[in-house]
Amino acid sequence: MTIKFSDLGLSQPVMQALDMQGYDTPTPIQAQAIPAVLEGRDLLGIAQTGTGKTAAFMLPSIDNLRKADNQIPFKSCRMLVLAPTRELAGQIAQSAKDYGALAGLKVHSIVGGTSVNKDRNKLHRGTDILVATPGRLLDLIDQKAFNLSGLEVLVLDEADQMLDLGFIHALRRIRELAPADRQTLFFSATMPKQIKELVSGYCNNPVQVSVTPESTTAERIDQYLFMVQANEKQSLLEMILSGRHPVPGEFERVLIFTRTKHGADRVVKKLGQVGIAANAIHGNKSQPQRQRALDEFKRAKVPVLVATDVAARGIDIPGVSHVINYELPNVPEQYVHRIGRTARAGADGVAIAFCAEDERAYLKDISKQTDAEFDRLPLPENFRAVVEGVGPTKRAHPNQTKMKRVKPKPRGASADMRGGVKSDGPPKKKHPNRKGKPSGTGQGGKPGGRPQGNRGGKPGGRPGGKPGGRPGGGRSFQKRRSGGGGGQRRGGGASRQG
Ligand SMILES: Nc1ncnc2c1ncn2[C@@H]1O[C@H](COP(=O)(O)OP(=O)(O)OP(=O)(O)O)[C@@H](O)[C@H]1O
Ligand SMILES: [Mg+2]
Repeated sequence: MTIKFSDLGLSQPVMQALDMQGYDTPTPIQAQAIPAVLEGRDLLGIAQTGTGKTAAFMLPSIDNLRKADNQIPFKSCRMLVLAPTRELAGQIAQSAKDYGALAGLKVHSIVGGTSVNKDRNKLHRGTDILVATPGRLLDLIDQKAFNLSGLEVLVLDEADQMLDLGFIHALRRIRELAPADRQTLFFSATMPKQIKELVSGYCNNPVQVSVTPESTTAERIDQYLFMVQANEKQSLLEMILSGRHPVPGEFERVLIFTRTKHGADRVVKKLGQVGIAANAIHGNKSQPQRQRALDEFKRAKVPVLVATDVAARGIDIPGVSHVINYELPNVPEQYVHRIGRTARAGADGVAIAFCAEDERAYLKDISKQTDAEFDRLPLPENFRAVVEGVGPTKRAHPNQTKMKRVKPKPRGASADMRGGVKSDGPPKKKHPNRKGKPSGTGQGGKPGGRPQGNRGGKPGGRPGGKPGGRPGGGRSFQKRRSGGGGGQRRGGGASRQG
């Protein structure tokens, strides 16, 4: 039996907001988590990327806040959501506004890289829901401009990252300051064992909801692999993006991950030299630069974005067709999150990994600790000669590599949860678990390969490598107008955000 939102005990204002969002069926994590959160239980929720964890904690919390109807506490908040990056905090705050559009709750977000004074002023009278990065929150607490005395619900989104090295000190302080009788909710697509052990220190007999085996890559992502020397990666990337070496899937937006900020800048610069416009987003960019890069990517004005792990977690941009791991992450869970920027809300996606000789150990770890299965793709013909500049393939003329802005493709009904990109109007969203995957029973990963997607060309699903890729591959990218945190060891690097 398909579980409906109306079965979950949500209030009318929340149900109406969901209707406005075009959601009609809860995802498995929503179906399982919402009733427990409404009961006031502490909860650890694990589900794959892009399956609606934000609504799983936000919808019932909005209702709980409404029901309790407590006054907004002075210089404090009733619900605090902590997120690892500024962009993610902003996105969650927007979701809280969308989901709570008719609930009459006050929502604010505070993140580093913006004016502290403005934050101090806006929180003076308190708020119902606050979404924050830990650094900025503690700044305000240290200045006595904010406190946690009124806290009813604490949410750690990307919980494993929040409990890891980069944030653990901040989290311990926040735990000390928060009332002991609060409700605590943890959500992530990944939860390494050693981090899971820390969860109990933050909550009280939590319900655990694991929709899929922990730390698995989203089912709808086709994963490919190039074995390529480190100094040849840039040439390979250029050939792929310019369409001279087609890869499976049709380009719409391409997100490229590097391990370092410097590496991201270098890739952007070199792409620019061959007429492929791209932006970079990482921890050394100013907040306005980061925001602009993300906006231009969302609007597909510059549909190539090169990022460090600052963009790996939680970011929800419809129409990311490809994620390219230019360098593999050294933390396997990070791979799950990076590639999870594609194939969201029931859509399909392609992930391509570039693996150099010295990254083989990372690749092995990724395969072992996530369920990633790669189809290996061959390097272009005459690749070595092209790299050395003596091959027959000329550099593309800049005009040739410009991508034409494309209208979002109508997707097959079965794959369409968003009905295209956001700006495209609000068609009804469908349940992300499509045919063959009964709702509410997301357990157990891939049942016998993925359902037939709408991208075609990969007969029989995943098994069987198919060099040459699917028809209609990356060629289309060539026609479009192109455009664009530090790598982190577990919990470190760019993750630490004010
Ligand atoms: N029940 C639903 N019906 C239709 N669309 C939904 C539903 N729930 C969520 N979505 C959409 O799915 C997308 C992904 O949601 P969300 O960002 O919450 O995923 P997530 O599980 O938190 O992913 P990640 O692990 O990457 O953070 C969003 O665009 C959201 O609007
Ligand atoms: Mg999320």
